[in-house]
Amino acid sequence: MSSRASSPTFEVAPGGQLRGTLRVPGDKSISHRAVMLGAIADGVTRVSGLLEGEDVLATLAACRAMGLSAEGPVDGRLTLHGVGLHGLQAAGGPLDMGNSGTAMRLLAGLLAGQPFDSTLIGDDSLSRRPMTRVAEPLNNMGARIDTAAGGCPPLRITGGHGLHGIDYTLPVASAQVKSAVLLAGLYATGTTRVTEPAPTRDHTERMLQGFGYTVERAGATVQLTGGGRLRGCMLEVPGDISSAAFFLVGASIAKDSELLLEHVGMNPTRIGVVNLLNAMGADIDVRNERTAGGEPVADLLVRSANLHGITVPQDQVPLAIDEFPALFVAAACAEGETVLRGAEELRVKESDRIAAMAQGLGALGVDVEEFPDGIAIRGGGLEGGTVHSQGDHRIAMAFAMASLGAQSAITIGDCANVATSFPNFVDLATTAGLELRVVTP
Ligand code: S3P
Repeated sequence: MSSRASSPTFEVAPGGQLRGTLRVPGDKSISHRAVMLGAIADGVTRVSGLLEGEDVLATLAACRAMGLSAEGPVDGRLTLHGVGLHGLQAAGGPLDMGNSGTAMRLLAGLLAGQPFDSTLIGDDSLSRRPMTRVAEPLNNMGARIDTAAGGCPPLRITGGHGLHGIDYTLPVASAQVKSAVLLAGLYATGTTRVTEPAPTRDHTERMLQGFGYTVERAGATVQLTGGGRLRGCMLEVPGDISSAAFFLVGASIAKDSELLLEHVGMNPTRIGVVNLLNAMGADIDVRNERTAGGEPVADLLVRSANLHGITVPQDQVPLAIDEFPALFVAAACAEGETVLRGAEELRVKESDRIAAMAQGLGALGVDVEEFPDGIAIRGGGLEGGTVHSQGDHRIAMAFAMASLGAQSAITIGDCANVATSFPNFVDLATTAGLELRVVTP
């Protein structure tokens, strides 16, 4: 849990509907990568649609502390004057990644091959998250990265160690680890190969290609060779499907709802939430499919539907990994049981999301059974009550949407971290029809 002294509470009235047209902010994963790759490219990179959430701003601040000059972001527009692959300089002190696992793990990869030392720190939540998963493969490449006790942050990276390419098979399906190794591979001699046990988001690979860097994929293995250059480019960041997920669930469970979500990223490695909601009987119409910034995008029209429980297929787990808090709310409002297994990774996100959702749903009268690697949720609707976000943005937003299917009001404590990924969530949700009141202590 990472709570802040003045963290607001959300009070949400029960029932209601979601209607209208809205555009969720830019994709968080893609925004982090745009800043990092733009920073080490040659020349200027112009980004539009950047997520101006706290996590991405932490990445930008870190790059600025290492010598990047950038204008913005203003209205999602950011201009980066890349310093080139070897142009970063030592920051004056520790780099604070706030709540962001993506910022810390990807930057660890980027900084592993620099000639200078770096220290990466984070907030209470991030300081409890596992970092050995990146330190180990990076150290195998020749880096020197030390973690604190238990493999947690801070990460102390001793620079000046030459890196060499490795052949690495990921022990867990993690795009962050894959990306960290690939980013270190830019600085390594020879070829770096990463093999994944299941497909994970491939934004790093796509974006490197957008910057003119050769990345090859053969089956489950992706590879690149160090020593090339990235060329500055124009990048349009699509809307974040992980943010859209709250509205897909909200409009599905609220009666008489019809919501058009414009310009949502539909990368096949991210659309587990759409696949799973469809399997539960949702009414989601994918329209106007196109490409933006090397990523598939579409407009999604979602209408109320009678959902039913499902057993989540294993291959969908990595494709919906960030959307399970919202999906568990859908399951609570569905008819019958939903069962998720093989999702132990949920326990090491911004909070232990299995425990946080099981506790919260239990407090709202839902019959849940917790497993080490998942959960069973017996649907049928929610009562009202008080829940805690555990300082986790996605838990807070999932329970805010739960009120659309609840009998009485839901109060959610400690919602400040919504700003890490979705700073205008309250505005968009209330405009669409959610009766949400923010109570600041
Ligand atoms: C992310 C990868 C996922 C995801 C996280 C963002 C990324 O984490 O949960 O929110 O941008 O690469 P893991 O790599 O730990 O699965």
